[in-house]
Amino acid sequence: LVDALARTDAAYAGGLAKYVGRSRELLAASARGDNPFEGFAPSVPDGETLVFGDAGFGAAERDGLEAARKTGFVLVAGGLGERLGYEGIKLELPVELATGKSFLELYVDYVLAVQARAREDSGDASLVVPLCIMTSDDTDAPTRALLEAEGDFGAEPGQIEIMKQDKVAALSDGNAKLAVDDDDRWALLTKPHGHGDVHSLMRSTGIAKKWRESYGLDYVFFFQDTNPLVLHTILPALGVSAKRGFSMNSVCVPRRAGEAAGAITRLAKAGDDDLVINVEYNQLDPMLRAATGDGDVNDPATGFSPYPGNANVLVLGLADYVTTLHGEDMGVVDEFVNPKYKDDAKCDFKKPTRLECMMQDYPKLLRREVPGAKVGFTTFERWVAFSPAKNALDAARASSAKGEPAGAAGSAEFEVYAAHATRLGLATAGEVAATRTLSGVAGLFGGPKVVLLPSFALTQADVDAKVTPGSLDLDADAVLVLDGANIAVESAKVSGGLKVVNKRADASVVIRDLVVSNGGLAHVEIPDADIPAAKPFERIRGYKAVDAGVLVVEVAEPGHFLLSKDGQLTKLADEAEL
Ligand code: UTP
Repeated sequence: LVDALARTDAAYAGGLAKYVGRSRELLAASARGDNPFEGFAPSVPDGETLVFGDAGFGAAERDGLEAARKTGFVLVAGGLGERLGYEGIKLELPVELATGKSFLELYVDYVLAVQARAREDSGDASLVVPLCIMTSDDTDAPTRALLEAEGDFGAEPGQIEIMKQDKVAALSDGNAKLAVDDDDRWALLTKPHGHGDVHSLMRSTGIAKKWRESYGLDYVFFFQDTNPLVLHTILPALGVSAKRGFSMNSVCVPRRAGEAAGAITRLAKAGDDDLVINVEYNQLDPMLRAATGDGDVNDPATGFSPYPGNANVLVLGLADYVTTLHGEDMGVVDEFVNPKYKDDAKCDFKKPTRLECMMQDYPKLLRREVPGAKVGFTTFERWVAFSPAKNALDAARASSAKGEPAGAAGSAEFEVYAAHATRLGLATAGEVAATRTLSGVAGLFGGPKVVLLPSFALTQADVDAKVTPGSLDLDADAVLVLDGANIAVESAKVSGGLKVVNKRADASVVIRDLVVSNGGLAHVEIPDADIPAAKPFERIRGYKAVDAGVLVVEVAEPGHFLLSKDGQLTKLADEAEL
């Protein structure tokens, strides 16, 4: 018991005594029914809405490319993912089945692609773009094992750092008595503290300070474990942060009034600096009713609430971040407690509770340490930015039946295809006329399964420079994967599947007059009776992918190549021949 207490004491910034003190204050406030937003007047904060294809989007991507040279990435991956119903870590799951790449591999690929571009643009061949992963007791060992097995997916030694969050002591009553196991009074009960731990860990590990002082970085980009489309928001959001001098910038998607999603909101109170922060939808509406009489209503011009939906992906200015972390609160973001009471006196709980914290509550710390720091948002169309894989198949089916986004592994996969097909001009705003239904989840993208990997394109300008407009004729069910920087498409017709891989800096390939016809990659439903016996990553989708002869072309030697006819790769004497 003493060992457990010592561990819990050491893990919490300020120690167990501070934790218990805070718990008593928050439990007393909870018992009184205090409203943390009492007296605040809400309004829409300062932010930018970027529309794919507009000049502003392209400009933000360009600015972002420059800012990305001075950016570190933080992936919060300590969550259990109970809703997903997958027994392993979420990061090992395939993002989509056309490549089978895991979330972790895709994220590392992205960081390496940014690094390669930054080196090229800056001429500094030693420039390193760092990635930090927050794990927890639930995810730490398998995350490390995956990285080790895959040689860090090609990252340099030390480029990826891992910091593990610890659990906090569970509390058994309104006086913050520490909870022990019902069957073993010497076993201290602990529970997860939430992803807000990322900030205190960025301080206690010294990583934030190192990135600022030794690496000279300006920004930190925080993202979640299973939202692959977020990669498309990184550069434009960084661009907006740079242009507007935001100390915190939240990536947002449009939300309908009343939709169960947090909203970025400006809160004003007499005598206090304004606070721009995530407000949960069930708190926003009453606040707006009290302030304006109207509640949260859609703007008739857009059909969406003026309060943007928080994707919980953050760009923080590193200078202010370091100042804030090294302030009085030691990076511990304001916590909350959510006990389920057993009695009217609100002292006994149905089960032990604990303090929790969320990374998006950082503005409260920032406001205390850097008064006047600018906090804003960048809103992207949903198809550009948002493809969370959080729900199990049953929940996905239930949401789909109600016409709501499924938010599952399968829907996220098709959202990736939709976004990439749109980037190639093969769909409009993530849609084609036809949709698919797979394993009871309807409304999935019905167009070609396109994956443009980060090595191929980081921006839409990259795509436009490499793919001649109108050059691709893909069947509705075709697969197209482009992986590698030096690939250009002039004309190709694909019925079936084509993967072109060119990882070499000393080789280039032009696709011209190519006609591919093969069985492609079929997404096949698994009958419900067979789902329990399917592979775990298939179980959460309810379907599998069957490769019926996808053509894979990999450039394996230096030189200039033409990929044409029915898939012949011809080496040319020199580039002029192209
Ligand atoms: P989620 O809301 O997806 O929660 O977390 P979760 O715990 O992973 O999944 P459920 O609720 O059990 O189904 C959002 C992000 O925050 C990370 C997750 O890994 C995910 O990237 N997270 C969450 C942490 O890093 N630590 C935590 O304590 C909780």
